[in-house]
Amino acid sequence: MIVFPIGSFSSSPIAAVISGVLVLLSCFQATLGAPCPINGLPIVRNISDLPQDNYGRPGLSHITVAGALLHGMKEVEIWLQTFAPGSETPIHRHSCEEIFVVLKGSGTLYLAETHESFPGKPIEFPVFANSTLTIPINDAHQVKNTGHEDLQVLVIISRPPIKVFTYDDWFMPHTAARLKFPYYWDEQCLQESQKDEL
Ligand SMILES: *[C@@H]1O[C@H](CO)[C@@H](O)[C@H](O)[C@H]1NC(C)=O
Ligand SMILES: *[C@@H]1O[C@H](CO)[C@@H](O)[C@H](O)[C@H]1NC(C)=O
Repeated sequence: MIVFPIGSFSSSPIAAVISGVLVLLSCFQATLGAPCPINGLPIVRNISDLPQDNYGRPGLSHITVAGALLHGMKEVEIWLQTFAPGSETPIHRHSCEEIFVVLKGSGTLYLAETHESFPGKPIEFPVFANSTLTIPINDAHQVKNTGHEDLQVLVIISRPPIKVFTYDDWFMPHTAARLKFPYYWDEQCLQESQKDEL
């Protein structure tokens, strides 16, 4: 092992190379981390300036207003989502509290009490502007825009980042449900935070 006296180390060519590499690495990380700033959130933000995407789901617009992986939130995550007429969430469940606040439009909430081995035929609830939907923990559900204008909802969930189990239909066994983690809008951030740990 080579021991450098502190004084000479800082002025040595090796130190220069190491600090050069460190500067390069931190630039690289800054570039990689740009879409996922784990630095908390500004006090006031303009929603119109936040990035939105459909994450490959036709008719969806998703904005993570405040996220665990995106912004380092610990207890809650908030999404603003807009569903075009006819579009819907997958049938899914998760073990967190979830409240929807319907800001605009109308639609249908399909909710199945979790039966022993599969969700089963869901109950249909009409949802409308200024309504709230409370999703019981772990019950399979789906929200669909069954109206004629955009359905816009604010979604508040606890214990993020959530693990989501998706179903092809209401009679698919719970054991066959697919775990989707990280969820679509968190995929990029989780990959980046794993890279950072290497
Ligand atoms: C919010 O952002 C939108 C789009 O950039 C802009 O038109 C609007 O004026 C902003 N609102 C305020 C209060 O700055
Ligand atoms: C929602 O309900 C509240 C309480 O009655 C009311 O003040 C508000 O104007 C309503 N908003 C809409 C969009 O209907």
